[in-house]
Amino acid sequence: MDKVTIFDTTLRDGEQAAGATLNIKEKLDVAKQLERLNVDVIEAGMPINSQAEFEAVSLIAKEIRIPVICALARAMPQDIVRAGESLKNAAHPRIHTFISSSDIHLVYQLKKSRDEVLEQARKMVKQAKKFCDDVEFSPMDASRTEPEYVYQIVEAAIDAGATTINIPDTVGYAIPVEFGKLIAGIFKNVPNVNKAVISVHCHNDLGLAVANSLEAVRNGARQVECTINGLGERAGNASLEEVVMAIRTRNSLFNVTTRIDTTQIYRASRLVSELTGFPVQPNKAIVGSNAFSHESGIHQDGVIKMPITYEIMDPKSVGIPSSSLVMGKHSGRHAFKERLAELGYSLSDEDFARAFNAFQQLAEKKKSIGNRDIESLVAEQQRTVSEIYRLDRIQVTCGDRGMPTAAVSLIGPDGKAVADAALGTGPVDAVYKAINRLINVPNNLTEFSVKSVTEGIDAIGEVMIRIESDCVTYTGRGADTDIIVASAKAYMNALNRLLTTRKAS
Ligand code: KIV
Ligand code: ZN
Repeated sequence: MDKVTIFDTTLRDGEQAAGATLNIKEKLDVAKQLERLNVDVIEAGMPINSQAEFEAVSLIAKEIRIPVICALARAMPQDIVRAGESLKNAAHPRIHTFISSSDIHLVYQLKKSRDEVLEQARKMVKQAKKFCDDVEFSPMDASRTEPEYVYQIVEAAIDAGATTINIPDTVGYAIPVEFGKLIAGIFKNVPNVNKAVISVHCHNDLGLAVANSLEAVRNGARQVECTINGLGERAGNASLEEVVMAIRTRNSLFNVTTRIDTTQIYRASRLVSELTGFPVQPNKAIVGSNAFSHESGIHQDGVIKMPITYEIMDPKSVGIPSSSLVMGKHSGRHAFKERLAELGYSLSDEDFARAFNAFQQLAEKKKSIGNRDIESLVAEQQRTVSEIYRLDRIQVTCGDRGMPTAAVSLIGPDGKAVADAALGTGPVDAVYKAINRLINVPNNLTEFSVKSVTEGIDAIGEVMIRIESDCVTYTGRGADTDIIVASAKAYMNALNRLLTTRKAS
């Protein structure tokens, strides 16, 4: 059976989603999970973008040894040099270079002729070949390009040495039947097509990214570019979990396979959601919280009698934990470790000790602790590891008569505590104003949401916020049984991201 290469671009196109910025440690954490998931290629970033992005790609290239590590570069000499340098220590490097091919882009954006673009593509593929053998080329906006010109530029790029040709539906405009026809046309009309792998990269503006990718596979594409949770520019990219599970579940129709360890899907989805602050909608296919829950009596009856009646996939096959037994204050270190392993975590000894300590503190406040509580707790621990400022203590008074007042103490970069207090229109406002007096970084709060992780009055509250500073959006998350504390943690998380990004650039 033919193998379809799974090319994950969560760290590149995914991170381009407004407000999804990750720091270097978070990027490495995602890359490690992608390696566990067994993706074939990780597109780690576009090194020319900034020094921070260059360093993140270099670090991933050094640390992640099994998948191919890919760096994106416009078809420009300086981009390709930077991409090549970032991959210096990679075990399996790939440079992915691209240039627009549609007349819309050529006329209005590049102001170049088709011949000029074709020549530039040829030259830049040749330049990329000087850094590594594995070179991918994309004619951007291919789905809105006249097919004859797509064939020409693809042939030229293969001639110049491209080993993968990626056909992007950059603006999510294609409809499956026509996208499939474009891929079939490439196989029919490009004489040297058998010297390269044909790949697809579909955006989801019309909600068709996965359908278009699958239709391309049916027409011979053997690489699919996708992201965890479908994250990406605008409406996002094709979702990895949906593409992979469709190929697996309807195997006899596609007659292809992937190398993905599907039991790592749920964990990857949770991690990306936690780190980016992009929640997964409950009815999201494969990884949504309702994806395997049956509400109607008829469905429940059927599933109890025989799961296949209403379940086309086994939830365990995507790594949804089977054990829903709650834990509590009498659960020991060993049981906690086992539950973490079942949830797909493999923590270092140091991280485990911190997580277990947090678990014990939570168990003092909350009688029964479920899987979602544990996920939230570990995420909270991981979020705070590399903080510049850390929340030390917080005290709030509020009510319908008094003036909301907050006193906050933070531990600064020098390890010393600093404290201040402020009045606000409410307790969260007072806390944020007190923090602002200590960390003086002008910003605007653009989004604030609170949700409870589980039901029950003692549930953990998760706060997600976005702040904007100098036209850049930073996400922050915090979790605690006290939602004012959770709000303070979320603000600290966003401010720390802002400070880390500024420090790195
Ligand atoms: O959507 C797109 O066309 C891209 C290219 C860089 C492949 O992301
Ligand atoms: Zn894209």
